[in-house]
Amino acid sequence: MSKPLIAGNWKSNKTVGEAMEWLQNFKVVTTAQVMLFVPFTLLHPLKKKIEGLHLSIELGAQDVSPFDDGAYTGAVNARQIKELADWVIIGHSERRQHFGETDAMLAQKVDQAKKEGLQIIYCVQDENIPVPLGVDVIAYEPVWAIGTGKSDSPENASEVISAIKAKTHVSSVIYGGSVTPENVASFVSREAIDGVLPGGASLDPEKFANLILCSQK
Ligand code: PGA
Repeated sequence: MSKPLIAGNWKSNKTVGEAMEWLQNFKVVTTAQVMLFVPFTLLHPLKKKIEGLHLSIELGAQDVSPFDDGAYTGAVNARQIKELADWVIIGHSERRQHFGETDAMLAQKVDQAKKEGLQIIYCVQDENIPVPLGVDVIAYEPVWAIGTGKSDSPENASEVISAIKAKTHVSSVIYGGSVTPENVASFVSREAIDGVLPGGASLDPEKFANLILCSQK
């Protein structure tokens, strides 16, 4: 694959100071499409810094409100995110598990994101999870592989991703779950797998840069 999509998911990690330090230490020359999904508090400072350093990193949020502007205390909506980022992750298994997000709520989030022109990575845990219309990329992330150090086999991930593509007609599908610099090539070298969604391995700038380099072999 010539241009894999490498989407780092920082989850609930890093202060502004730590994020700035990460960027200073992130050095990579790549043809991969690199994205960073960060906490809301980091979107603005990272956007400024990425522009200042002329880095080709696309920014994304990790969640979006299912509602418009208004009386929804604590929620960050798609219009607010669009000022600062082009992408959003919707339906990560950690949102489903810890925040009780349902398929119906996630469909509302997709509608909101689309309305504002945000591009969406929609996460599914297997090929049977419903995918709302209009998502740009699907991430297949088996729950048992997330943060466990036990990744899916490239063979199985490739089979599940092919099944997802056949069912949804979404042409870009990536794999997430304990992706490392050591195993990334085994995933992106599969024809069906368009990229990866590393969590833990994106937190260290040198490890993430190495992962990106290894994805190009
Ligand atoms: P991990 O997270 O790389 O830390 O396993 C992956 C994911 O959130 O999809």
